Amino acid sequence: MKGTILITGATSGIGESLLHHYLANDYQVIACGRNQEKLKQLATDNTNVVPIAFDITDKEQIRAAANKISAIERIDILMLNAGDCRYIDNAKAFDGELFASVIATNLQSLGYLLEYFLPKVTAGGHVVFVSSSATLLPFPRAEAYGASKAGIDYLAKSLRLDLKAENIAVTLVHPGFIKTPLTDKNDFAMPFLLTSEQAASRIYQGVSARKHYLHFPKRLTLIMKLFALLPDFIWQSVALKNEKSLNNEKALKKEEELRNNKK
Ligand SMILES: NC(=O)c1ccc[n+]([C@@H]2O[C@H](COP(=O)([O-])OP(=O)(O)OC[C@H]3O[C@@H](n4cnc5c(N)ncnc54)[C@H](OP(=O)(O)O)[C@@H]3O)[C@@H](O)[C@H]2O)c1
Repeated sequence: MKGTILITGATSGIGESLLHHYLANDYQVIACGRNQEKLKQLATDNTNVVPIAFDITDKEQIRAAANKISAIERIDILMLNAGDCRYIDNAKAFDGELFASVIATNLQSLGYLLEYFLPKVTAGGHVVFVSSSATLLPFPRAEAYGASKAGIDYLAKSLRLDLKAENIAVTLVHPGFIKTPLTDKNDFAMPFLLTSEQAASRIYQGVSARKHYLHFPKRLTLIMKLFALLPDFIWQSVALKNEKSLNNEKALKKEEELRNNKK
């Protein structure tokens, strides 16, 4: 056995693909998520999976989960991947509950996950934060998601400084669009979409090389980085133009649906 990895959000999308990647590379995987059925299935399919079901927004559940794995002495890689994406559809009627809920899932949870699981990561170990390339540029309707992920970026970079003396590596990951249940809900074009297997493979390779920062696909993230260097109004006009044509498309679709319903 090469080591032990704990993956949050191992029941779906990128996390599930990471689980299979690490199992195939001879790791024991502590698989986390809320979906008990899925966790049970993953553990039945592979004896190197240790399933623990808990909600990352609930500190008590995180504490109980850490207790459940007290017999496991060391976590070599703490893969903080679980997350949620929901949009603020009407900025003027700002949905504070939605905002708080996305921040709680994507950012606030990380404090408790670090409190309870980081003590098991020892010298030579690794903490990985799955953030998003959305933090490279502001997107319409992404106030909650983008803010939560921007918080992760700072957390990861600051923690890296403090864990250096402990010889614990910290990797920040900025994926572009990856086809998962999270993005299946999106109603806009997602250029250079990758599969979750492709994303997992890039993360596995980057983490194995102890890289500080991973971003992919580069043909998307490098364009985004270029826009970020230009004056603000350039990206603003591109983003707002895209949003306008998306809204027009939605209005046309709605009209067509109404017409069809009347027939
Ligand atoms: N897909 C993309 O294009 C993309 C791009 C950039 C960044 N990301 C980031 O990549 C990560 C994984 O996303 P994905 O696309 O793979 O999404 P996904 O298929 O929807 O998976 C999300 C995972 O997070 C877990 N999760 C969500 N809320 C949870 C909670 N309250 N408690 C415990 N677990 C929770 C889910 O587990 P349960 O359902 O079992 O609770 C699930 O396993 C996220 O952080 C996302 O922001 C994704």
